[in-house]
Amino acid sequence: MLLKRIFFYLLSILVIQNVTAQQKPLQTAMNKMKLEFRLDEKGTPLYALYYNNKPVIQPSALGFSLADDSTFNYGFKILSNEKRSVDETWSPVWGEVNKIRNHYEELTVHLQQTQKANRLLNIVFRVFEDGLGFRYEFPNQPNLKYFIVTDERTQFKLSGDHKAFWIPGDYDTNEYPYTTSKISEIDNKDLVEKSTDIAVRVAPDRSAVQTPLMMKTNDDLYINIHEAALINYPAMQLHVDNRSYTLSSSLVPDAIGNKAYLQSPFNTPWRTIIVSDKATDILASKIILNLNDPCTFTNTSWIEPMKFVGVWWEMQTGKSTWSYANNRDEVTPDGNLKPNGKHGANTANVKRYIDFAAASGIKGVLVEGWNTGWEDWFGNWKDKVFDFVTPYPDFDIKELTHYAAAKGVKIIMHNETSGSVTNYERQIDTAFALMNRFGYTSVKTGYVGKIIPRGEHHDGQYMVDHYLYVIQKALQHNITVDSHESVRPTGLHRTYPNWMASEASRGNEYNAFSNGNAPEHETILPFTRLMGGPMDYTPGIFKLKGYSSVPNRQVHTTLAKQLALYITIYSPLQMAADFPENYEAKKDAFQFIKDVPVDWDDTKILEAEPGDYVTIARKEKGKANWFIGAITDEHNRTATIPLNFLDKGKKYNVTIYADAKDTDWKTNPEAYTITHVVSDANSILTLQLAKGGGAAISIMPL
Ligand code: NOJ
Ligand code: CA
Repeated sequence: MLLKRIFFYLLSILVIQNVTAQQKPLQTAMNKMKLEFRLDEKGTPLYALYYNNKPVIQPSALGFSLADDSTFNYGFKILSNEKRSVDETWSPVWGEVNKIRNHYEELTVHLQQTQKANRLLNIVFRVFEDGLGFRYEFPNQPNLKYFIVTDERTQFKLSGDHKAFWIPGDYDTNEYPYTTSKISEIDNKDLVEKSTDIAVRVAPDRSAVQTPLMMKTNDDLYINIHEAALINYPAMQLHVDNRSYTLSSSLVPDAIGNKAYLQSPFNTPWRTIIVSDKATDILASKIILNLNDPCTFTNTSWIEPMKFVGVWWEMQTGKSTWSYANNRDEVTPDGNLKPNGKHGANTANVKRYIDFAAASGIKGVLVEGWNTGWEDWFGNWKDKVFDFVTPYPDFDIKELTHYAAAKGVKIIMHNETSGSVTNYERQIDTAFALMNRFGYTSVKTGYVGKIIPRGEHHDGQYMVDHYLYVIQKALQHNITVDSHESVRPTGLHRTYPNWMASEASRGNEYNAFSNGNAPEHETILPFTRLMGGPMDYTPGIFKLKGYSSVPNRQVHTTLAKQLALYITIYSPLQMAADFPENYEAKKDAFQFIKDVPVDWDDTKILEAEPGDYVTIARKEKGKANWFIGAITDEHNRTATIPLNFLDKGKKYNVTIYADAKDTDWKTNPEAYTITHVVSDANSILTLQLAKGGGAAISIMPL
């Protein structure tokens, strides 16, 4: 009897201790940002994030469903936890700034699921001054060796019905315009079904959105949710519960519906939540880069940021074609493809671009449509449509290589896969060997269309693995990559600086083959797509109307705004996308494109509001020159820019490329003014931006 009493007494102490231990959350904080972690009564891991003691993320569940255990999200106990602080500074190979501080408080929680096989799961939290990153770690363990994730069950319980800037949760494309709405109003069904611009498949979850998801609360807090270091795992989308304002991770499935095939030990990508009461801080955040691993190779001298022109806009606007022939079956009497007379990538035309690049001090010339296969690139031959090494008869690769080299210009390779990814993997060594042989150092890849043969999704684990496989192969060949139609970036350019840019969003090209991008589009991109890394947006269109045979088609910006995009859309690869003749016609404005660099020592986000305006100043790498880009949405606006970041006591030549008095993106987009003034650190510039307009400024020491 007594023994029994003692037993129950001890048990009750244990239970009470356990409950109090579970209820008192683990905490870690940095300045205004605080993270709490605890288990609920069912042993479900919960985390919460506070900014200035106000909840940004209310207690939200963490965990997984596995193929052999749909309940890997409760029944956990905390085995132990540990903390550490890190404060270090590193330098990127190229970037917006030359030094990045990585400063965080880390909490690692070691969990064990008690009722089933004692499986282990760690959750690592890093609290930064401007937000949180956390990831799951599956330690090496006998009872969880090879496993299939059927769902990740991470939640983000928002504190209210925030304003959100979103694109629908399509598994295969991110080339959507943004919708701005309340969280409670998110519904992408109509959007996806009505979309005539893109060959999308209907998103199976009408309430899912893609990340980076930008939000603004009613009391003006800015919150951005994305992920960092997406490796060997599907992209995370967010399912939106319109009533409880809860976002849940929704991983892009594979062709049969599974999410990820893993082997322990394994770390998931980091889930990131960037928070500030200033929109400019969101754009300045380095959390996503900091959560990626450092670059592991030391010889990076071959990685070269550059501007480029290209045989490209002519195909986009229908002036010429990628293909040399209209189709495979049309042949000449001697059995060769019958030329259609409109092929853009012919030797003479490519030389024209090389001459223009050389005369303008532009390093690269992209040539699309140089290789056989384009005559049926969507069609019957898809599995082996391209071999990536056989030029069309009118593209003299040897001659052009010598011609470009003699003029100090690099031709940029183009490898469109048309979704035939297994074919590309089979050919890639030969393709990159050809590049090495002819001195190509940079490739633009593309994944238009359905991924064959299995119908994997563009953003699923299989393709995430493929994109990185290409980057690693490219690394072996000293090649840099600009990927189109790939998964949106997650800061992997820290680890792999040869992955210089991707498209992974709705670029300027949509102004050529669709109704285009709304004037607000480029004011949202920095807060969404660009949070993960550089974008090949292809700015610099000067002929803003009359470039298309489709009536009323036009670019939805002014010319000055096209110039400003070289600053507001960051990329170490920037295209001057228009035709040489359109630049020749406006040489004074083209001077800005000639001058603007693509690699920076410093960046100041001067003003920003998602959907409305962005003004950024950047200092050229290794030089004393500054460049400013200011853009607005469909409203005109006055941008007031104090130049207090300039060196005190120095005088600067300032050239302002601005909208003219009567400029308007719709009625008069090409009117601009160029003004020269001398300024110093005490000067304040006042710029009038037209509707859909912008301004670009170069500032060089006297
Ligand atoms: C889509 C890309 O975004 C575009 O830049 C390219 O020209 C075409 N695919 C063809 O590869
Ligand atoms: Ca594209």
